[in-house]
Amino acid sequence: MCGIIGYTGSESVKDVLLDALELLEYRGYDSAGIAVEDDEIKQAKVYKCAGRVRDLRAICESEKLLTSCGIGHTRWATHGGVSDENAHPHQVGKVTLVHNGIIENYRELTADYDLGDSLVSETDSEVAAALLNRFYEGNPEEAIKKTVSKLKGTFALVILFSDHPGEIYSIRNVSPIVATLCEQGAMLASDLTALCRFTNRYFVVPEYHVLKLRRDGICLTDLDGKEKQPQYLTVDWELNNAGKNGYPFYMEKEIMEQPDAVERTIAERIRGGLPDFSADGVPDELFTGCDRINIIACGTAMHAGLVAQALVKSLLHMHIDVDMASEFMYSDPVIDKKTLVIAVSQSGETIDTLEAVKYAKKRGAKCLSIINVKGSSIARESDYVLYTNAGPEIAVASTKAYTTQLSIFYLIVAKMAHLRGVFTTEDTQSFVRELQRVPEVMQRVLKERREIHVLASRVLEAKDLFMIGRGLDYSILLEGSLKLKEVSYIHSEAYASGELKHGPIALITQDTPVVAAVTQEKLRSKELSNIKEVKSRGADIVLFIKESLAGDVDSAYETFLLPDMRDEFMVMPASVALQLLAYYVSSDKGFDVDKPRNLAKVVTVE
Ligand code: F6R
Repeated sequence: MCGIIGYTGSESVKDVLLDALELLEYRGYDSAGIAVEDDEIKQAKVYKCAGRVRDLRAICESEKLLTSCGIGHTRWATHGGVSDENAHPHQVGKVTLVHNGIIENYRELTADYDLGDSLVSETDSEVAAALLNRFYEGNPEEAIKKTVSKLKGTFALVILFSDHPGEIYSIRNVSPIVATLCEQGAMLASDLTALCRFTNRYFVVPEYHVLKLRRDGICLTDLDGKEKQPQYLTVDWELNNAGKNGYPFYMEKEIMEQPDAVERTIAERIRGGLPDFSADGVPDELFTGCDRINIIACGTAMHAGLVAQALVKSLLHMHIDVDMASEFMYSDPVIDKKTLVIAVSQSGETIDTLEAVKYAKKRGAKCLSIINVKGSSIARESDYVLYTNAGPEIAVASTKAYTTQLSIFYLIVAKMAHLRGVFTTEDTQSFVRELQRVPEVMQRVLKERREIHVLASRVLEAKDLFMIGRGLDYSILLEGSLKLKEVSYIHSEAYASGELKHGPIALITQDTPVVAAVTQEKLRSKELSNIKEVKSRGADIVLFIKESLAGDVDSAYETFLLPDMRDEFMVMPASVALQLLAYYVSSDKGFDVDKPRNLAKVVTVE
């Protein structure tokens, strides 16, 4: 959480910082701030405020900031409330700093080094600034080394020293920092999105290494002062991928991009009609040598795992668990050398998932991860990685990351079924062909989006809502329900429809709309009976049903017909429809769809 940018170079620093912060705002939007060097006062000038980057922009607008160097921050509050004082950057003496992470021992440090008098905020971050200033005697590297030797917790620190103009220093533990040197100068950021406007080359700053940026050079040293060569990676994300491209919100743009994103994710991984991970360096033995699978992930990524679980159980008849990464370590999971752990994460930085991967590896498991951001922490921690090619996902609510994660899971399931003799080659090819139809089928749902917009008006005023279905439909609705609640603030619960009458049906009234999904032939009649049960208790029904299963469905239901696919693949069109439902409810309510309250895109605190 928290977005960070640092830039020293030839462009207008104020504009580079503010534009980058707008792109990074998905990491937290409680407050924003920048610090830019000022040659006249020989000290960085700090501009910061509670609120959004647009508020910060208004504050800085009239300022003529003639400088070539500055740092910036968007905050997701942890220690200390949302206020101007608690906004970053923090300045103590010669040190101006922004921080992402949590300094766990900030109280002890304050007491041990008697820093209290120099602090004006309630943040742990300002303690790091004060400590650095205490240790600073003119040599930034020495002060940084001494400071981090005292810090407990996670941190990405980006620092200006007032007597080292034109230089930006950084060091990190766990919390990510990527950096680059390009034509316009040197820059670093908490994530790639902020850099890809300038370059497609970047490197991940290794933990506990001091990074020094100058406009014409980058110097990376380990804690013994030994110089290290940055390991550059390339990314194919383009600038226009990170813009809204005419859509009012990134969420809509990203929903619309899904056919292409799925196509990009699967195209290079199909050879002769069969799944092929050789270009990813993932050996077949990974899938034959395991006797159980454990998926670990959070939120939407975990929901992708639940769909995979249903497929693995029904097609492969294998033992498979799905764990919320935050619960994984504490649940004494059954993990050994024969367990294949699959971690799923868009950002590759979610700390709970990262810690779960480390834990599983210690227990001897092999770890394969499904990740969107190249070179991210989870990717680096894993034995193997399958990257989703979703491109940058900026809206806080995840959409195209989810469906590209699912696409990879379909390939894994096909691969395992083939390797284990569950599918013949022809069965596998036919399964993969169905996956290749997904982009076109998604496109058909997207074309009918106005119909879904009309359905959204049926739930707009609801305070509470249920989403019901069985089997795979239940898995789909768990994600549909998460999407709706996070962007529309409607309390929505996904429930296995057969379970409803064991308690929650008591909550159904005429003010509780029910969204139902019916996409699995074998479950159709039971699901329709369950829908009748809530209808007869007064609920309005919004139904997403596979076209060929719609038959004589009750005309009193508000119905959207989902284009037909094999039942296992109905997740794809249904998910797009449910994403659109959530999107329209939120935008019609006038909410900031891309930045729902209290949330942040990348969750780097446990
Ligand atoms: C919901 C959402 C979150 C993320 C979760 C994991 O729309 O985006 O639930 O899915 O925070 O994030 P990643 O995939 O980055 O690990």
